[in-house]
Parts: sequence; C-alpha cells; structure tokens
Amino acid sequence: MEIDYATLTPHERYKLLVAAVTPRPIALVSTADLEGRYNVAPFSFFNAISDDPPAVAIGVNSSRPGHVKDTARNIRSSGEFVVNLVDDSIAAGMNQCGVDYPPDVDEFDLAGFTPLPGVKVAAPRVAQAPIALECRRLVNVELGIGRNVVIGEVVYMHVRDELFDPEKLYIHAERAGLIGRMHGAGWYARTTDLFNMPRATGS
Ligand SMILES: Cc1cc2nc3c(=O)[nH]c(=O)nc-3n(C[C@H](O)[C@H](O)[C@H](O)COP(=O)(O)O)c2cc1C
Repeated sequence: MEIDYATLTPHERYKLLVAAVTPRPIALVSTADLEGRYNVAPFSFFNAISDDPPAVAIGVNSSRPGHVKDTARNIRSSGEFVVNLVDDSIAAGMNQCGVDYPPDVDEFDLAGFTPLPGVKVAAPRVAQAPIALECRRLVNVELGIGRNVVIGEVVYMHVRDELFDPEKLYIHAERAGLIGRMHGAGWYARTTDLFNMPRATGS
C-alpha cells in the first residue's frame, strides 16, 4: 500500500504515524507552575536524542485550537521538568494523568502518586517511578500551530536502588519493566521479550 500524506486529514496522519512508529517509550512528565502547583501528564512522542548534551525530546500537541497543555505552559514558564519512566505498577495511574484536567487539578492526588522534590529542578518527581530524569529546557521547537517539541538537558537521574549496580555504573534495564505505547486506542507493550544481538564490528 502506498499512502500519500497529502491526501489525509490531520487525524488520519496521526493515526497512521503512531501505528507505524511503535513501541514508543512513555515520558510521564511532572512539572510545577510558578505558584508551585504540580502537574503530571504522559507523552509518548518522546525519546532520548543526544548524549552530549544528554537530551530528551517531548512532542506536546494541542488537543484543540488555542489550548495550551499544562505541561507546555509550566515548562514555558519554569524551564524545568522531570521525565518519569513508566512501568506496569504505575501504568494505570499514568493513564489517569492523560485525561485533560483543568490546571488546578493535581494529578499526583488523582493517580495516587507521591511527589518528591527535584534535586536540581523545582519540578517534582513521581516517587513510584523506577527511573526519573530531571531536565532543564534547552530549546522549544514550534513545528506547527500548537505543535511543540521541547528538548531538555538531563541534569540529574534517579534510579531505583535494585535496578542499579553502582560498581559497574549499570542500569539493569531488563528489570525495570518499562512499558511502551503501541497503536490505536489503548494498546501498550511490555519490555519482557528481549533478545541479544552483539554489535556488528564490520570486520
Ligand atoms: C500513553 C499516552 C501518551 C500520550 N502522548 C502524548 C504526546 O506525545 N503528546 C501530547 O501532546 N499528548 C499526549 N497524550 C495526551 C496527554 O497526556 C493529555 O493531553 C494530557 O491531558 C495533557 O495534560 P496536561 O494538560 O496536564 O499537560 C498522551 C496520553 C497518553 C495516555
């Protein structure tokens, strides 16, 4: 099948794109506004994109014309955010946080998450997350109307003790049990079906 994107509506483009690029890691992004109110929301237009500076990117898209998501507003005003990685145990809470609540709703409460203060940023992190990345905004790229990619530098990392080997400076990623977002309404993937392929050397 050949599909010319020019023939599609925005919704159709979205639907096919997110079904083609799978699985996508999920950033459960926690932020604080200038009054110190907390916000948490999931984003699967997300990945690590650079090691020096260590950087992640998050695609924040308006759900309706003129609407700015709390996450985008808080990052715009504070320049800081935390990416909490998502495992099975916080998947349902993460899903709760994906509802478009007004700014005064604290999704930490709704999802049963415990906020912990950031070490290097004013944004809180989710205590229940296996891994959390404290980030400072490097740049915001406006791709289209209400379509922003926030690129943040990772300035501090929290890893659950049992996932980390300090002697080897090694994260046991296979034990973290992170989930990814798949296609359509509500499909997710687990990182339990792994295989190892040593890196080709070319010789
Ligand atoms: C698994 C999942 C992934 C999502 N990924 C994105 C995304 O990449 N970009 C986006 O703009 N919204 C995404 N959403 C929707 C936002 O989480 C939702 O609009 C949320 O209400 C935004 O909250 P906020 O206004 O508190 O920032 C996703 C929702 C879920 C459940």
